[in-house]
Amino acid sequence: MAEKRGTLAVLTGGGDCPGLNAVIRAVVKTAVTHGYEIYGIRNGFHGLIQDDMKKMSMADVSGILPRGGTVLGTTNRDNPFHYAAGEDAAGNVIYEDRRDDVVRNLNAHGIECLIVIGGDGSLKIGYDLHRFCGVNVVGVPKTIDNDLPGTERTFGFDTAMAMATEALDRLHTTAESHHRVMVLEVMGRYAGWIALHSGLAGGADVILIPEIPYRIESVIEKVKARQAQGKQFSIIVVAEGSKPVGGKMTVARLVKNSFEQVRLGGVGNKLADEIEAKTGIEARCTILGYLQRGGSPTAFDRVLSTRYGSAAVEACLAGAYNVMVALSSGEIVRIPIEEVAGKPHQVPLDSDLIRAGRNLGISFGD
Ligand code: F6P
Repeated sequence: MAEKRGTLAVLTGGGDCPGLNAVIRAVVKTAVTHGYEIYGIRNGFHGLIQDDMKKMSMADVSGILPRGGTVLGTTNRDNPFHYAAGEDAAGNVIYEDRRDDVVRNLNAHGIECLIVIGGDGSLKIGYDLHRFCGVNVVGVPKTIDNDLPGTERTFGFDTAMAMATEALDRLHTTAESHHRVMVLEVMGRYAGWIALHSGLAGGADVILIPEIPYRIESVIEKVKARQAQGKQFSIIVVAEGSKPVGGKMTVARLVKNSFEQVRLGGVGNKLADEIEAKTGIEARCTILGYLQRGGSPTAFDRVLSTRYGSAAVEACLAGAYNVMVALSSGEIVRIPIEEVAGKPHQVPLDSDLIRAGRNLGISFGD
């Protein structure tokens, strides 16, 4: 047993994501191996505000590597700087600043560094805890959307992409048999990474992403051109954040007291309806939704998650706080968390992925 070194804590914040448990496992195992005591905080920042945490041992992470979700629980609400404490008589949310509770709870357990496994919202909170409260933080980039800057990959993306690709393969069967246009709506929030990668991997004819506003005429042109070549079906993958030129993203609903103000969704059905109305070709939409986030991580995500979790504790060992571990040229590196927090990472328009798609005749709806 290594000599006792100090105390760390780990939490998972935001939406669940394949690979979370693999990161938790790697963090706990690496921490214990190096003599740290490690607390697991339940339900993200909520647990930190409420002092809901437990010491973790090797036994707590046994068998969790292939499991989806997070054994710690998570939430995409409960920002300590803007904590929804309830509603007033008129139904307005009452917000409180609970940063002092966070600092008190961390100090009470002697926690010298908080490992935040999260996407943009959680990492921004981590950064704010560092700059406003002096908390030492190490971030781990999580999200199926792959929309964080400074890293070539967030863990969870590979699994979501594989799921969307499988869905496209399956949709091909019905599209071909029934001579239909099949639209697959995928997640990704304001970035088109899942749509772009799965569209290339799944042989889509049209890929619509938020970074390239689409014209419905252009989409229809592609469907008709295929018909003219004797191809009686078309496959379209559309990112949930896609919008027409001069139009807006499709919002499923507004949400209160969440890291995000809106829930995206519905563009796929709109698109299918428009295509059918304007061409007379039967069109159907499938919304892949949370199937992209659930279940077991791919081997790639398990390895990446393991590397990230191990590197997060190594950063603590080196006293390299207020960083995010990241993948750069295939190596795990540390980058200042301020370079990431609150900054989006969309598909660059000069991406070779888009170029490859265009070279193959894929329409981006522009
Ligand atoms: O960020 C991951 C993600 O799945 C997005 O792709 C999607 O827009 C959003 O979360 C959905 O969040 P919620 O769990 O709040 O519905």
